[in-house]
Amino acid sequence: MALKNDLILRAARGETVERTPVWLMRQAGRVLPEYRAVRAKTSGFVEFVKNPELAAEVTIQPVDILGVDAAIIFSDILVIPEAMGLPYKMIEAKGPWFEKTIQNGEDIQQLHIAQPEDLNYVMKALQLTKKELHDRVPLIGFCGAPWTIFAYMTEGSGSKTFSKAKKFLYTRPDLSHQLLEKITQSSINYLKGQVAAGADMIQVFDSWAGVLSPDLYKTFALPYLAKICDALQPLVPVTVFAKDAFFIRKELADLNCNTIGLDWTMDIQESRKLCGNKTLQGNADPCLLYADEATIKTEAHKMLQTFGPHKHIANLGHGLYPDTEKDKVRFFVDTIKEYKHTKENSMMH
Ligand code: CP3
Repeated sequence: MALKNDLILRAARGETVERTPVWLMRQAGRVLPEYRAVRAKTSGFVEFVKNPELAAEVTIQPVDILGVDAAIIFSDILVIPEAMGLPYKMIEAKGPWFEKTIQNGEDIQQLHIAQPEDLNYVMKALQLTKKELHDRVPLIGFCGAPWTIFAYMTEGSGSKTFSKAKKFLYTRPDLSHQLLEKITQSSINYLKGQVAAGADMIQVFDSWAGVLSPDLYKTFALPYLAKICDALQPLVPVTVFAKDAFFIRKELADLNCNTIGLDWTMDIQESRKLCGNKTLQGNADPCLLYADEATIKTEAHKMLQTFGPHKHIANLGHGLYPDTEKDKVRFFVDTIKEYKHTKENSMMH
């Protein structure tokens, strides 16, 4: 059946749209009291992610409550290391933690290449969500980029610098490529499974792109992103979001993807020049949502005017922060949906 609202898919493909579509990274999460109520019923985050009924429920919440133009499946990028043989824990107020990490060639040998069946719970969650959404909006599937997954598998937790992960790149480039290749194959299998299970669009999150130099990024990150993009074309539109990697926008635009995600540090007009004809996604500062409504409106309008009426998917420049008020989030979404691009307001920029 055809989607009732396919604005995001059309914007991603560069087609003209009646208004700028909007969704928010981390919309299926802690800003909604309705999410916290469901979360409280589970024994922990990892178990929650593995429960398709509850995952589908919280995936749909932001569509109902915030009125966003897409749903993103409730899951985590860390399901891939787990499916490959490294289970994780989510420690309250601290973040992810891995008991076993990758330290040498033998560890890499032992890793399994994930197949869609290994992540059956995500496939079930996608199928159930798709059914319960009744084609109201597209469903976004996702995974972490190979470098970001590599960073967690070698570091074992979050980090400001990811210096252990980068040490591995500098001291064992050969093994680094082996590990990145295994992650890439696992991610391709996983994403193809997500598309078969109903994902209408895919986003690849390279959350730790910004700790790499341009040279390291070109050697250890871009080639693997390219393989993922190539494997998914022409199945569904693909978005690549490389957080903090302002230095690689031009190269990202050569990938076989439809949309490039921008964070709030990236100048919109400069990004348009660097990214050629790609659709751009972003890029309001998540902290803007702490401001009063008048400020949110002014800044959202400025963002929309600068991006222009086409080839733009409105979003934040990174995920929502957990202490953001739900009403402010809804106000931001409404402001974008109500905005009309006219000749006069586009002349202002
Ligand atoms: O966007 C959505 O709403 C869909 C769900 C989603 C989650 N994680 C749920 C989640 C998505 C797309 C992710 C991706 C993810 N996970 C990324 C890439 C995006 C980014 O933020 O850069 C990363 C780096 C992770 C790893 C991760 N998961 C961390 C570092 C943490 C702890 C910090 C935090 O945000 O709480 C998580 C936990 C997590 N993933 C939560 C949610 C809703 C919070 C846990 C909880 O509710 O107990």
